[in-house]
Amino acid sequence: MTRKILVTSALPYANGAIHLGHLVEYIQTDIWVRFQKMRGHQCWYVCADDTHGTPIMLRAEKEGITPEALIGRVHDEHRRDFAGFHVGFDNYYTTHSPETQACANEIYARLQAAGLIETRIIEQYYDPLKQMFLPDRFIKGECPKCGAHDQYGDNCESCGAAYTANELKNPYSAVSGARPELRQSEHFFFRLSDPRCQSFLRRWTQAEGRLQHEAANKLQEWLGNADENLLTDWDISRDAPYFGFEIPGAPGKYFYVWLDAPIGYMGAFRNLCAKEGLDFDEYWQPQSGAELYHFIGKDILYFHALFWPAELEHAGYRTPTKVFAHGFLTVDGAKMSKSRGTFITAASYLAQGLDPEWLRYYYAAKLAGSMEDIDLNLDDFIARVNSDLVGKFVNIASRSAGFIARNFAGRLCTCDESLPAIQAIRDRRAAIADHYEAREFSKAIREIMALTDLANQYVDSVKPWELARHPGRESELQAACSNALNLFRLFVILLKPVLPALGAKAEAFLNVAPLVWDDGATVLAAGHAINVYHHMLTRVDKKQVDALLAANRESLEATPQAAPQKHAEHQEKAAAIASAQAAVATAAGPHISIEDFMRVDLRIARISEATRVEGADKLVRLLLDIGSLGTRQVFAGIKAAYDPAALVGRLTVMVANLAPRKMKFGMSEGMILAAADSDGQTPGIFLLSPDAGAQPGMRVK
Ligand code: 2FM
Ligand code: ZN
Repeated sequence: MTRKILVTSALPYANGAIHLGHLVEYIQTDIWVRFQKMRGHQCWYVCADDTHGTPIMLRAEKEGITPEALIGRVHDEHRRDFAGFHVGFDNYYTTHSPETQACANEIYARLQAAGLIETRIIEQYYDPLKQMFLPDRFIKGECPKCGAHDQYGDNCESCGAAYTANELKNPYSAVSGARPELRQSEHFFFRLSDPRCQSFLRRWTQAEGRLQHEAANKLQEWLGNADENLLTDWDISRDAPYFGFEIPGAPGKYFYVWLDAPIGYMGAFRNLCAKEGLDFDEYWQPQSGAELYHFIGKDILYFHALFWPAELEHAGYRTPTKVFAHGFLTVDGAKMSKSRGTFITAASYLAQGLDPEWLRYYYAAKLAGSMEDIDLNLDDFIARVNSDLVGKFVNIASRSAGFIARNFAGRLCTCDESLPAIQAIRDRRAAIADHYEAREFSKAIREIMALTDLANQYVDSVKPWELARHPGRESELQAACSNALNLFRLFVILLKPVLPALGAKAEAFLNVAPLVWDDGATVLAAGHAINVYHHMLTRVDKKQVDALLAANRESLEATPQAAPQKHAEHQEKAAAIASAQAAVATAAGPHISIEDFMRVDLRIARISEATRVEGADKLVRLLLDIGSLGTRQVFAGIKAAYDPAALVGRLTVMVANLAPRKMKFGMSEGMILAAADSDGQTPGIFLLSPDAGAQPGMRVK
């Protein structure tokens, strides 16, 4: 029976680079999806960028671009990185889309109609300088328990205490450094404490097979016993300024990013439906016969196994068939670390010339269906890829292909299907399929590799290289190589979910149509002609791995956001906090950090107008063109040194993020840079000019 399956991976935030930690999930999901497709099921894999929220809004502001421009750029980077690792989404979309907005509005309206939305006045820290309410992660201060300085608004990294932002001593805004004020605001809540939600979730989370055992236990803990009411209502709104969807009928109030993020799964699928002519409702209506699976990290179980199913259920949609949570990635037994160079981005891995299928294979060899963390042990990575993939798998083809090409015009003879290695593959195919289905990829790989040992024992026993040296033994040679290449083909089928690119190369070499799972029951016919063998996979060289670590260490030194990371996944937040922290530290010492410097947004500017200012002795009014950032008016004290007419058309450097200042003659929206000798030895003012080639709007760093 053909199953209809919709699969998602968690949506990555649209403000950070994809790294090897993220890739655990996308590779895991992709392998599972490819397996389902090979089995002939109608399986759709959708994902999107998670584009909303305060960190993205602030990051865009810091870069001097709109949030739309930021998420557009990151979207391109994410798509490139995923494609580089052969993650084959059927649609990679964005939550900042009309489809997601329509779904969010609809779910909200239905929850409201069901009496599950209520408003409440809450008290929250407000940054008077930045004029915005602050999420807890953007408030820092002294730990209320141990007094450690510069702790986040939710817990202390020094003593581990958990608390609320309101409890911090001497709080300061991590955005502006200002002392935050407590202010009241009306917020919207999803009433998770409603008995309907609690009883539904109790049933839903404990349904057999819905969640992994560890996850179901966690949920049981969160939900408590039937007589307890442990769930509290969920705050789903945020106040302007916020980058997100405005709540219908509530001007200035926005859906919290985590409200519309999972709805982004629906949005991405709706967008795919339009492209592929699929029926959205068939997958999302309450009695849908389609299956829905979410692959996620264990850190976001709360959102996917509580909030999301409760929302769907009470808004009249189907709920997920299963939620699959995985563990975190460690590298060489420790958390990924920038100083050790193990915080490795997807882009740097590819740029250093490492083969993405090495990593896919290694992850597959380590992944199980549980929530346990997986370790990328770099020495083991090198050893396994070289011994399994090159030494055991590809070697079967490379040792036989040449003889068939040279001696038999590329033609195979009948395959001996009674060979123990072929029989063993046939015996284990169903079990291997079950392992894939259960996401027990490490078990599948272990079985496959044991089978390659049998295949290699066969090749070693018939020794094609010796047969080739003895005239008269041609038919034995052709049989040996035909059997070996048939064995190779069977391994290609078994490994294709993990190694799609190698699979495609092997199909071209074997001269066969794209292989599906059931092709494993057959062999190539006698007389089948194969193509010339081209090298399929190189060995990993330790030097490449060393260079990768070095590149990631180097990039730390060169990166303005280099900051100790609390969670790799929240690097943007950490970066924003780190830069604010640096701003506070500046006042205390003569040195500034690279983060401090990067807060100054220096841009190349073209002087498009320069005029004298009536009534001002020293000032020239300049109109500066800074490319996509528009034009700025600046009053500069350079009249003594420059004739305004001579300035028009020349390039200089301006500070583009200086707070606008109201002057007697109008607003001054920045500052141009000029040198002047403070002790008067060299009188004059010298405007800075960039070298030829610089363009208006370019950032100066
Ligand atoms: O934790 C994260 O990285 C979130 N951006 C995941 C969102 S998954 C889904 F709910 F959209
Ligand atoms: Zn503390």
